[in-house]
Parts: sequence; structure tokens; C-alpha cells
Amino acid sequence: MTELKVAIIGGGGFMGYAHSLGWALAPITADTGATIRKAVLVEADEDRAKTAAQRLNWEDWSTDWREVIARDDIDIIDIVTPPAVHAEIAIAALAAGKHVFVEKPISNDLAEADLMQAAAETSTGVSQVGFNYRHAAAMTFVKRMLDDGTLGHPLQFRAHYTQDVGALGRVLSGWRAKKGAGGSGVTGDIGSHIIDLASYLVGDIDSVTAIIGAKDPAENTAWLPDDERLQGEYLDDAALWMAKFNNGAIGSFACTVYASGRKNRMFFELECTGGTVEFDWNHSDHIKLSLVSDNPDQQGFRTITLNENHEDYRYPLGGMGSGYVDDAALQLQKFVRAIVDKQAGSPSFADATRTQRVISAVMQSADSHQWVTIDEVTA
Ligand SMILES: NC(=O)c1ccc[n+]([C@@H]2O[C@H](COP(=O)([O-])OP(=O)(O)OC[C@H]3O[C@@H](n4cnc5c(N)ncnc54)[C@H](O)[C@@H]3O)[C@@H](O)[C@H]2O)c1
Repeated sequence: MTELKVAIIGGGGFMGYAHSLGWALAPITADTGATIRKAVLVEADEDRAKTAAQRLNWEDWSTDWREVIARDDIDIIDIVTPPAVHAEIAIAALAAGKHVFVEKPISNDLAEADLMQAAAETSTGVSQVGFNYRHAAAMTFVKRMLDDGTLGHPLQFRAHYTQDVGALGRVLSGWRAKKGAGGSGVTGDIGSHIIDLASYLVGDIDSVTAIIGAKDPAENTAWLPDDERLQGEYLDDAALWMAKFNNGAIGSFACTVYASGRKNRMFFELECTGGTVEFDWNHSDHIKLSLVSDNPDQQGFRTITLNENHEDYRYPLGGMGSGYVDDAALQLQKFVRAIVDKQAGSPSFADATRTQRVISAVMQSADSHQWVTIDEVTA
């Protein structure tokens, strides 16, 4: 069996923890066709690198990602740094022929995303982006019902991604707050997940119109006018946008980190000609489903509990409560399987670059107060 050696860059943070668990679980919960070695954890600071490598069970540590990319024995570069440094590391790794997994958003900047997509398209390495939620068994089930016609044609998608970290005055990581520190704002950070899900389930977005708000953490003023926000480099803390999809469906999206009580709630409803589905990540083992074809005296929503009959559900019986770590493992399993089968990873750098284009369109629309067409957005 193939052995794949992984190096994780930025492994001492939040995603370093989630991916370390994911890499450990991936070959246990499914046959990926390869064995995995958690070979090297990289952090810029030596103490942080050593401590994290030991706690998260990596064989070795380094403070220099360039030296790790140059090593012949490393097969996979897993990038979990803040998005501002994704491009530099990913492009170097792809040029060296490594397989590259990079966390979302692919970058903070459309120009960098375009360069990353071009690098992926000419590399011998397989590449994939960490939009983890699309891999959850519940999403595989919804996607299947869309592909096999059970749900019919998508009509309207309404998604929220809400957290309370801003309301509680918590800064999750220093880089998130300001553009200069490498942050991507709430639209890039959590909004990108619901854009990815919309693209995966409903199809490509054609155009958007948006409103965004930013609260100045220093002054504690709610919400900053656009010109002050841009001048102060404050990113968006709240965003609302409407979208038209290429296939005629329509959508609305909301994200904020000022939602008291919402710890990490990703929620959507999708109405289609054949039925409706509702999903809430806080109940990730459940899908609410209503079908137009249900008997007239049984119309309404049923709650389906995911179980061993659903693809990508990894326990021998339902109701076991699969969640974030299962999802981390699922996306890495699919990435490894793509490497073994010499297939493209999904979502690809091209998919994530299109998501980045939608993020740029949301920003442009909030500034111009106009509808923005995604294909017309340039870097
Ligand atoms: N998919 C998800 O559910 C999800 C959730 C949270 C974060 N993310 C994404 O994961 C990425 C990291 O976010 P996080 O919350 O883990 O951030 P974090 O700040 O907790 O961790 C980032 C780590 O990268 C390290 N780092 C920064 N620059 C480095 C460099 N040049 N070389 C080596 N190490 C470096 C930092 O020291 C830090 O330990 C971001 O792209 C973020 O958007 C994804």
C-alpha cells in the first residue's frame, strides 16, 4: 500500500488541532488506499512548533516551511496558516510537485487565488481546499437527492452562518480582525462556507447585491460606515447579500460574528420543485425533508436521522452524533483517495477561486450599492 507523508504548515493553531485529528482518523474510518504518516509540523516559532508536534503526535517539527517543501520524502503539504500566506506556500509546494491541501478561504485576495489556480492546473500534485462542510454525510445525502431528481430543480436557497465571538468581545485569532493582519473578514472567513455549499448544491452564482457592516473593536462603535471601515482597514463583521444563480434559482445569505447565543451555527433551507430540505450544523446528523410527492394527508417535514444507509456516514448505526472531527477526516479521506486514484481533488483550487470571486463581488457590491456579476469581477 502507498505510504503518504504529510507536513502541516501552521499546525499549532485551531485548524492544526482539527487536521491532526483528521489525519489520524482518515485511514481508520475508511479505506483510503494509503497509509498516512504525520511526519512534520511547522510553526514559525520553535517552542510553538515543538510543543504542538508533541501534543498533536507529529513525528518531527520545523520552523521553516521552505526547507520542508524541499524534502524529497514529504508527499503532502497541508496548509493551515492564516489565509494571507496561503498563496506563497501553496504555489511553492505545487511547483515542487507536492500534493497540496489548503484551508479556506483559498486566499484573501482574488489575484492570489488566480495564481494559485494556475499553479494547481500545471502541477503534477493533487490539490484541494478545506471547505469541510460540503463533505458531511448530510450534505452528501442532499446532493444525492438533487442529482437523482428526488428534489427536482432548485428554486430558493437561504443560508445563515452566525457566531457570537464578536458579541462576546473575543478575538479568535489576532489576524482575523484587520486586513493588514491577514484577515479575510466575516464574508471570507465564514461566509465562504455558505457560498461553497450554495455552489455545490445549487450551482454557480451569477450575481450578488450586498450590505456589509463592521464594528470597530477599539472604539466599540456599531456599525462603521463603509468609508471609515475601508480607511481603517476594518473588515466586515456582518454581511447580507442576495444572489441570482446561473440556473435561475435565487438565494439570500447572512453572516455575522455578533450573534449572541450562536456558537457556530450554519443553517440553510433549500426549496426545490420536488421538495424542501432544511439543515442546521448544530444538528449535523439530521436533515429535515418535505417532498411534494408525499401523500396529501402526510404533507409536512420529517426529520431524517443519518445512519449506516447513508453514504459518508462512518458508524455502524445511526444516532451516534458525527460532527466536526468526522468531517475533518472525511475531507482528508477524499483528498487521499484522489491522490491514490490520480484524480482531481474537490473542491478544487478552481472551485475555491470562483468562491473568492463571489466574496470580491459581495465587497464590491457593498461599496457600490449595485448588483455585481461574478464573471465580470477581476482581480
Ligand atoms: N474549515 C473550517 O472549519 C475552518 C475553521 C477555522 C479556521 N479555518 C481556516 O484555517 C486557517 C487557519 O485558521 P486558524 O483558526 O487555525 O488560525 P490560527 O491562528 O489558530 O492558526 C494559524 C497558525 O499558523 C501559524 N503560522 C502563521 N504564519 C506561519 C508561517 N509563515 N509559518 C508557519 N506557521 C505560521 C500561526 O503561528 C498559528 O499557529 C485559515 O485559513 C482559516 O480560515 C477553517
